[in-house]
Amino acid sequence: MTEHYYTGQPRAEHDLREITAILRGKRFVFTTDAGVFSKGRIDPGTRLLAETMEIHPGDTVLDMGCGYGPLGAVAGGLAGEGRVLMVDVNQRAVELARRNLRQNGVTNARVLAGDGFAAVEERDFDVILMNPPIRAGKAVVYALIGEARDHLKEGGRLYVVVQTKQGAKSMMREIENQFGNAEDVEREGGYRVILARRA
Ligand SMILES: C[S@@+](CC[C@H](N)C(=O)[O-])C[C@H]1O[C@@H](n2cnc3c(N)ncnc32)[C@H](O)[C@@H]1O
Repeated sequence: MTEHYYTGQPRAEHDLREITAILRGKRFVFTTDAGVFSKGRIDPGTRLLAETMEIHPGDTVLDMGCGYGPLGAVAGGLAGEGRVLMVDVNQRAVELARRNLRQNGVTNARVLAGDGFAAVEERDFDVILMNPPIRAGKAVVYALIGEARDHLKEGGRLYVVVQTKQGAKSMMREIENQFGNAEDVEREGGYRVILARRA
């Protein structure tokens, strides 16, 4: 049976690799493995979101569905004295994300294993980042978006990256329904970054 990248405990045989990437002008080295999302390269949607997201020094950031940790690692650097929480349901991704934070000298971020927001206690994030698990289905992704709204402070920002051909229009409509606003802040290479603010 095909194993999805959002499996809690992947059984795929390990295939550890290192990939390097320049993100926001900084060089990162990420260890990846079989059974996690985009193990061979930084996903183009991830890259677009990393290059677009506005994170201010001091911000508190949540990286929901962090995978091996590229967005959280970049966010940690941008947040300075702020903090980053990263969450993934895939235990292998969680372990890699922890390793990648250490490997890249990111000290203001921590990683939790958890299903969506179940393990997230804070409800006052300045920024929530999502490259959502589209393959898990609309019901899962739309529920995560609603939960994201409830975990942002007033004026807090949700960034979602989505592939244009994987339902970007309906994603935009859903975010607009749940937040009362949504804008396209970047489009490139078949991906869009959508920004919504909690009123
Ligand atoms: C498209 S990948 C993005 C990974 C990473 N943020 C990146 O950009 O490379 C989506 C991630 O969401 C995780 N995920 C899926 N369902 C989840 C859930 N219910 N709770 C937390 N994470 C979930 C998957 O395991 C996967 O790592």
